[in-house]
Amino acid sequence: MNNHTQEHGTTVPSSRANIRATIPIAIVAAVAGLLFGYDTGVISGAILFLKTDFHLSATGEEFVVASVLVGAVLGAMAGGSLADRFGRRKMLIVAAMVFAAAAIVTAITPNMGILIAGRIGIGLAIGSASFTAPLYISEIAPARIRGALVSLNQLAITSGIVVAYLVDFLFAKSGDWRAMFGFAVIPAAILLIGMLFMPKSPRWLMSRGLQEEADKAMERLHENADKEVTEVAQDLASKPTGIVKLWSPVLRLALIVGIGLAIFQQITGINTIIYYAPTIFEMAGIHSAAVAILATFGVGIVNVVMTIVAIRLIDKAGRRPLLLIGTAGMVISLGALGLVFHLHNISGALAWITLGSLMVYVASFAIGLGPVFWLLISEIYPLIVRGRAMSLATIMNWAANLLVTLTFLSLIQWAGRGNTFWIYGVIGIGTWVFIYKLVPETKGRSLESIEQGWSGAKHSPQEPTSS
Ligand code: BGC
Repeated sequence: MNNHTQEHGTTVPSSRANIRATIPIAIVAAVAGLLFGYDTGVISGAILFLKTDFHLSATGEEFVVASVLVGAVLGAMAGGSLADRFGRRKMLIVAAMVFAAAAIVTAITPNMGILIAGRIGIGLAIGSASFTAPLYISEIAPARIRGALVSLNQLAITSGIVVAYLVDFLFAKSGDWRAMFGFAVIPAAILLIGMLFMPKSPRWLMSRGLQEEADKAMERLHENADKEVTEVAQDLASKPTGIVKLWSPVLRLALIVGIGLAIFQQITGINTIIYYAPTIFEMAGIHSAAVAILATFGVGIVNVVMTIVAIRLIDKAGRRPLLLIGTAGMVISLGALGLVFHLHNISGALAWITLGSLMVYVASFAIGLGPVFWLLISEIYPLIVRGRAMSLATIMNWAANLLVTLTFLSLIQWAGRGNTFWIYGVIGIGTWVFIYKLVPETKGRSLESIEQGWSGAKHSPQEPTSS
């Protein structure tokens, strides 16, 4: 748990009452993460059947998988200003409606065009929610438990992926991809109904000058509401707003770190596994679609379990060790995967080695780049630019995701299976160096201390943390 007890320069004790009030709100908002995971993960199983039903080429297949990502880039772009204008809660409600409507469209689509349009619609909702949900959670959370609550969103993403794999598996025998897509209506309805009962973000209300409503929301969330209100007001008054601030020299390094992590989180290849795992197992000689989907389910479970491990370690071991160890594990397993695919005639034993390497790779992502990227971008920016800076990093994350997804199958055709995984491995080495050189340790530091770290004469990411 983050020990941000000195937020805004003063001690803010988080009582049990605060925690009891905010955890359910964070859980409801994290259902958006569940939809993010479900709607991105479901394609891995559905694509096996879409491929035959619609006679897709490699490019066509990439197009179907990528359509959701195109929408997500656009959704992340619009998300920042819309969430500032209409509020975080309203944006999550609208996203839930779009999630539900698009799930129905993709389930009943008569043709490929409408399917792609529906997937782009889902992408719009994912793109804006992927950024608005952590933002909303971070704004309602007591400072002391913000780290854990924000990471709950990544846990929801990984759980959503597992639910998608499970649903894919259940419908694999009948090849019913329509049911796979339609299932998302259930979590969308839960998010929609749940968010209707949630409070608006008091910080957003204050930033819009809606003081009376903000006071009420604060009272619901915090026992010492008056104090919180005064602190947020002082914080808002002490800093100028404006687009220029985002590009100020003081923030440049913070932006480079956020955008760099956003891109590296993707171009080390995680979603080639998340979206194409059954396809990769088919390449490795597992020819039953049901078995391939079941093996993928195992990969998803490892992702969830290791995310829980990460949440427990993140405030004890720190962000940097998790990132460095996780990225090193990814590099080693990518090396092994590349090696296996360089051998001809992958037989039974080699198929198991492929599965083992994939497990290690996903486990390594789940303790490092997976949760730590989303947590760090909610920590390293000052409150006044946090929304826009998070939105920018999120856009880059989805754009990089799109790039990898669009090129993966073509890369395999062009460079070969083994070399493709080795390319991701080499990028992983670059990622490790980037983290080692530039990413600061934020464990146990107040948000102000992190903020001051960027403006210090010489930024020293490895500096020992002060508690
Ligand atoms: C990433 C997603 C990825 C997921 C896998 C998230 O942090 O942003 O692209 O699919 O983790 O667990």
